[in-house]
Amino acid sequence: MKRDLLEKINELKKRNNAVILAHNYQLPEVQDIADFVGDSLDLARKAMNTDADYIIFCGVNFMAETAKILNPDKVVIHPDIGSRCPMADMVDVESLSWLQEKHPDAATVAYVNTTADVKAISDICCTSSNAVKVIRSLEEKKIIFVPDQNLGMYAKRFIKDKEIILWQGMCPTHHNNIRKEDILRLKEEHPDAEIMVHPECRPEVIDIADFVFSTNGMVRHARESSSREFIVGTEKELCYRLKKENPEKEFYPVPTAVCPNMKKITLDKVIRSLEKLEPELKISQDIMEKARIPIERMMEIGRGD
Ligand code: 13P
Ligand code: SF4
Repeated sequence: MKRDLLEKINELKKRNNAVILAHNYQLPEVQDIADFVGDSLDLARKAMNTDADYIIFCGVNFMAETAKILNPDKVVIHPDIGSRCPMADMVDVESLSWLQEKHPDAATVAYVNTTADVKAISDICCTSSNAVKVIRSLEEKKIIFVPDQNLGMYAKRFIKDKEIILWQGMCPTHHNNIRKEDILRLKEEHPDAEIMVHPECRPEVIDIADFVFSTNGMVRHARESSSREFIVGTEKELCYRLKKENPEKEFYPVPTAVCPNMKKITLDKVIRSLEKLEPELKISQDIMEKARIPIERMMEIGRGD
């Protein structure tokens, strides 16, 4: 990146007391100007602890919403309001309320990939890092898990003493674009590589993996493992961070594993947001107060990977 552009970004951040948070799937040039890059749980924690007045959130909507819910007095700017997670949009309040009425004895666990109004009617949230730990922490023997069927099925492998009712949502990037054949092909090309995949992948992909991690779990594992090569079964941009932090190691993504919604946030839009301090993300007071409860319950449980 050109030095004068970087200076301009730093000067805008300082002048406005703004912090830039970016998810691990953001474009490389956006990751490069962020103050923190992380997974959804890590970013929620960073958002909670920042003393900046403005949070420029580079990720999809539910992540920016979580930052706002945890910081109701701060201004959260989402550089492209249209950057939404399609899986989060696969569950809505009306259908979830119907299921909850059918199972009044069940606790509802909402993956953090849900909209704020769905969180507002859920008991607790989880991320890909702590789904098993969160479900285990509950007294209820019956769980409604929304919206990711694959993460829910993954959790079921470890939890035998509860009934888990799965919503039929899925992430198009992980479910459709990371296939068993893709991973096996990469393994044939790189037989010494370790296979790590995200729990949003299909069960048959999880079956052939050496490790299943959230995106930050993969970052930690790549650093600590003695292996020098890794097949990475998640959105391909994570490999940019992995390579940057481990230049001596090799990372092989599935080329089709792209989340187009994450890519809607471009460097130009981030700079415009820093200059104009918009578009501001707004959530009603009522939804914020209700959605904060399940998120805080999850934060108390912490990471599980
Ligand atoms: P992480 O919490 O692992 O970053 O995952 C978020 C996500 O959207 C995965 O597709
Ligand atoms: Fe949503 Fe999938 Fe994109 Fe993650 S990768 S933000 S789950 S669409």
